[in-house]
Amino acid sequence: MKTILVLNGPNLNLLGTREPAVYGAETLADVERLCRDEAGKLGMSADCRQSNHEGRLIDWIHEAGREIAAGNMLGVVFNPGAFTHTSVALHDAIKGANATVIELHISNVHAREEFRRHSYISPAARGIIVGFGVIGYAIAIGALVRLAAGPRAA
Ligand code: DQA
Repeated sequence: MKTILVLNGPNLNLLGTREPAVYGAETLADVERLCRDEAGKLGMSADCRQSNHEGRLIDWIHEAGREIAAGNMLGVVFNPGAFTHTSVALHDAIKGANATVIELHISNVHAREEFRRHSYISPAARGIIVGFGVIGYAIAIGALVRLAAGPRAA
């Protein structure tokens, strides 16, 4: 069984109480359960991790690159939180590790403040899912599975 890494960046541990009008009422535990359920339905397992620290996220992306190359992992669903808008280092990590990454945002970042419209992650991502609330995580997991199965699976 292959793994999908679900990475959540800074402040996403506060889901449920953090600006619920923007991010919804589900907690990070709810999101991680949703991911495990969706992955399970598709014959995959979800490895869910969260960190507020850029370096730890970088290390996990490097690890994912090795696991993908070894054939043990399909890819990464990554919500980089505010690092989306600041981190050249995460961009370089994804490129350097050759990791298949779906960038995900719960909110529609393009309908919010100007500073959220630019992403350092997008040019290094395989695809982007934005603004679907937490069901975006299920959509991203499905996308990774379909990408791995090839165009006929669409
Ligand atoms: C976010 C959007 C980012 O702009 C913000 O800094 C976050 C969450 C989202 O999921 O909508 O922390 O990535």
